[in-house]
Amino acid sequence: MTSAPLRLAVLASGRGSNLQAIADAIAVGHLAAELVGVFSDKPGAFALERARRLGVPAVAVRPRDFASRPAHDEQLFRQIDAVGPDLIVCAGYMRLLSEPVVSARQGRIINIHPSLLPAFKGLHTHQQALDAGARMHGASVHYVTPELDGGPVVAQVRVLVEPDDDAERLAQRVLAREHPLLLATLRLLATGRVRLAGSAHGSRVEFDGQSLSAPLQLDPDNVLAELAAPAASASHPHPTN
Ligand code: GRF
Repeated sequence: MTSAPLRLAVLASGRGSNLQAIADAIAVGHLAAELVGVFSDKPGAFALERARRLGVPAVAVRPRDFASRPAHDEQLFRQIDAVGPDLIVCAGYMRLLSEPVVSARQGRIINIHPSLLPAFKGLHTHQQALDAGARMHGASVHYVTPELDGGPVVAQVRVLVEPDDDAERLAQRVLAREHPLLLATLRLLATGRVRLAGSAHGSRVEFDGQSLSAPLQLDPDNVLAELAAPAASASHPHPTN
């Protein structure tokens, strides 16, 4: 039995390389999904141009045309709802979403963020990692909640920081791993193996029906797997009964 392809809407403010990675994977049959719309706060975003080239509806909703953030978000999500997505993917969407639009779509919005959350939320994550002297950096895919970069993390990819890295070099290496991370996560969502369970206050990620205690990790073969449990220590005291 084959299920219907996952209907994806993408929100992007910039160049849209993650959007392109999704489109390319769909085109070659590596992701059972359909792009049903691309939405931006920036009419000039290259992501919208990519969408037009792909024949996907491309919609800009400018914040400055609205009196408040919630009013902008309401209109944006009215347009998104009109294309009937199963899942909304924030891929370089540079605005915080307001609480009502997020709460109404619990478990249906994900974001890709270029750091190993909860480290380095917000902007300039690569510079933040360098400034902190991090040896390991990377990217995370998480469910969106009203808290900036704060929702439950589904999956991560790790990228080693090299001694001569600057923010740009590091960003390039992270971006190269972001694309397979996003695609592998979308495959798990498309097949229903990953879902958000629980209430607004206690939500957690389920993988194959079990709560995840740590984000899935992308391995060098681009497979997402659970972190290996630490080996049982030989020095564990034996029970004395
Ligand atoms: C990516 O680094 C993503 O993690 C971040 O913004 C960037 C977007 O890149 N949220 P692109 O527009 O998909 O090329």
